[in-house]
Amino acid sequence: MFDLSEIKKRNICIMGLMGSGKSMIGKDLSKYLNLKFYDTDKEIERKTKKNINTIFEEHGESYFRDIEEKVCIEILTNENCVISLGGGSIISRNIRKVIKNNSYSIYLQVKLNNLQNRLKFSRKRPLLNKNLSKKEILENLLKDRQKYYEKADLIIDNDRDRFQALERIKSQLNTYAN
Ligand code: S3P
Repeated sequence: MFDLSEIKKRNICIMGLMGSGKSMIGKDLSKYLNLKFYDTDKEIERKTKKNINTIFEEHGESYFRDIEEKVCIEILTNENCVISLGGGSIISRNIRKVIKNNSYSIYLQVKLNNLQNRLKFSRKRPLLNKNLSKKEILENLLKDRQKYYEKADLIIDNDRDRFQALERIKSQLNTYAN
């Protein structure tokens, strides 16, 4: 098991826009480091027994954000885990505070046109079902969030294959462990 006390943190969290690869890389990283894995969207769905689309449809975004804040804060206080955060969780000041105190944070940065391609057929992202192009929606989300994502302890480009990004994360973490 990777010793997080080496980096004086309780856990590792992964952030970035939808489609940036947080869940896949988070899962792979947790296996490599032998740490537990959490995906905050999955936890929200498990707790509410509803999928994210249904929560947005039945109750709206601000209701989702309230649940997201509670679930993220609970998970972010856990020890010895890798956490993939929903892309919008970073807009909560309270979540940002908990990340700062507990987590080694990694921002997966992906160019907007690549995100757009990856999300072309996604039916699971309610924020993309608006009367704007996916490009405009993603641009607007990035405009609001970039300043927070960029505060991460580590920024990794994930435009190509995820194994390259994973290797870069691993080698950075190994520099702390030695
Ligand atoms: C959202 C991202 C989604 C999910 C919800 C809202 C956002 O998570 O939490 O649809 O505001 O960017 P992923 O980033 O895992 O797709």
